[in-house]
Amino acid sequence: MDNKTLNRKELINAYLEFFKSKKHKKIPSAPLTPEKDPTVLFTTAGMHPLVPYLLGQEHPLGKRIVSLQRCIRTTDIDNVGDKSHHTFFEMLGNWSLGDYWKKEAISWSLEFLTEILKLDINRISITCFKGEGSVPKDEESARIWMSLGIPKERIVFLGKKENWWGPAGKTGPCGPDTEIFYWAGKENPPKRFNPKDTRWVEIWNDVFMEYEKNIKGEYNPLKQKNVDTGMGLERTLAVVNKIEDNYLTETFLPIIKKIEKVSKKDYKESEEIKKTMRIIADHIKASIFIVSEGVYPSNTERGYVLRRLIRRLTKYAKINLSLEGTNFIREIAEPVFEIYGDSCEELKKDKQKILKIIEEEKIKFDKTIQKGLKILEKKLKEDKVITCKDIFLLYQSYGFPLELTEEISKEKNIQIDKEGFQNELKKHQELSQISCKDKFKSGLADCSERTIKLHTLTHLLNESLRKVLDKNIKQKGSNITPERLRFDFNFNRKLSEEEIKKVEDFVNKKILEGISVKKEKMLLKKAIKIGAQAEFGTRYPEVVDVYSIGSFSKEICSGPHVKNTKEIGRFKILKEESVASGIRRIKATID
Ligand code: ALA
Repeated sequence: MDNKTLNRKELINAYLEFFKSKKHKKIPSAPLTPEKDPTVLFTTAGMHPLVPYLLGQEHPLGKRIVSLQRCIRTTDIDNVGDKSHHTFFEMLGNWSLGDYWKKEAISWSLEFLTEILKLDINRISITCFKGEGSVPKDEESARIWMSLGIPKERIVFLGKKENWWGPAGKTGPCGPDTEIFYWAGKENPPKRFNPKDTRWVEIWNDVFMEYEKNIKGEYNPLKQKNVDTGMGLERTLAVVNKIEDNYLTETFLPIIKKIEKVSKKDYKESEEIKKTMRIIADHIKASIFIVSEGVYPSNTERGYVLRRLIRRLTKYAKINLSLEGTNFIREIAEPVFEIYGDSCEELKKDKQKILKIIEEEKIKFDKTIQKGLKILEKKLKEDKVITCKDIFLLYQSYGFPLELTEEISKEKNIQIDKEGFQNELKKHQELSQISCKDKFKSGLADCSERTIKLHTLTHLLNESLRKVLDKNIKQKGSNITPERLRFDFNFNRKLSEEEIKKVEDFVNKKILEGISVKKEKMLLKKAIKIGAQAEFGTRYPEVVDVYSIGSFSKEICSGPHVKNTKEIGRFKILKEESVASGIRRIKATID
């Protein structure tokens, strides 16, 4: 059987339609910056917006969900440069929220690949969970695969490192998975599957989420058995179209072509050029999407990731392709808007603003490089030597890349201690990794009592700001940890002390009134009509949950919330500050 060719839109439609025919309801791509998740910086998989429902809450659209989700995986940043890794990618997924189980999930996966995409079953291999700790070997999945025609020698059992997914944070839903590989080699596939052979490309992951990891690290059975699947769009597009390099599919090729044009270099010229162009193409795309969600380059959290992406692409463009200035940024960014403009409104609407933010960051970086250059030249002239500590300082304080130090020192015939620099860097990275780890890894599914209280408090604060300060105030961002809430809103000046006190008193009055909180499922249209607050207008599914606090507040929200405001405790504003022009931020907590 020969496979057919498909473009990105056709593949997405084929997937969504296939699962709609199996009674799945489509949800829109959730924001890349998870709104209700205090502990992960970015949405890394399609399951993020579904966490409360995987844990047992009822989803307004039912038990079968399908989506195309935009994702950012920063953990892969150092792997970008090969043919299949990206920091930004799209994931197709289907979910069973306590409904169907392994048999349906596996047979539908295979049916979609072989019947709809017309991929060759003789080029498919499978991994299953071999069992570890208290979780047994997943014989059931292997049996199902074999009953569908996958031979025994094409099924391999692997451990937790390979065949277990989640939780995305420290706690939450997780379980063993079965992964589908496709033979992308030009020659015929070997009879026996060897997962180490990179010509086998992983395209789809079916996770059987029947466990919840708790804060003590224990795995307990979930209330319900869920299926969570994820298919990498770029990879699948490549194998369906028999393209060996994701960067040569339509999701990247127009960007690569632009980079070739502005640099007057050929992608195929050398492995180094290929790697450089892939990094630039990936990073410009990821930067555009991150900026489109209201993130600015900064030295912390999401802003820092964005800064790193822009600076890294600048560095590669400068050193390996001799690209300077900012004009090239606009040129190579253009295809990103063309590829994704139709499916992402913000890209179209905010194009000029997005480009300006990226360009400004690039200019800032160019300036720090200039400063670093002066320091380096002075050192080379006066001391005639440059130590590993000097290189590290240049790198750390001015973002001055090692490659530039190397190049300039070479011109002056001065040896540099690269190894010493790498050691300094490693020491530093280990330290910062320890402090970052908890941020990236901790509890996605944090539904502690305090967090739930802070969720409801956020709704109270949102409405109170409109009542006390200005009826035009809108939520511009929110982030909740068990310690505090953080709330961003549009307001163009600092709040006075009296105003802060007034907001505090107002919220506390509402808490003491003991108002009951109610959840109601309704059509999105109706929710908007009755004036429910909605932050991301177009991104909600057709049916939503609306939480009302008496007649005081109504918001579209996935919860969870307290039953009555008096459960919350005393509200206290910790800080009020500016985050961007026209945007204020309140950090607050409960006593
Ligand atoms: N959540 C699973 C993954 O990202 C499907 O691979």
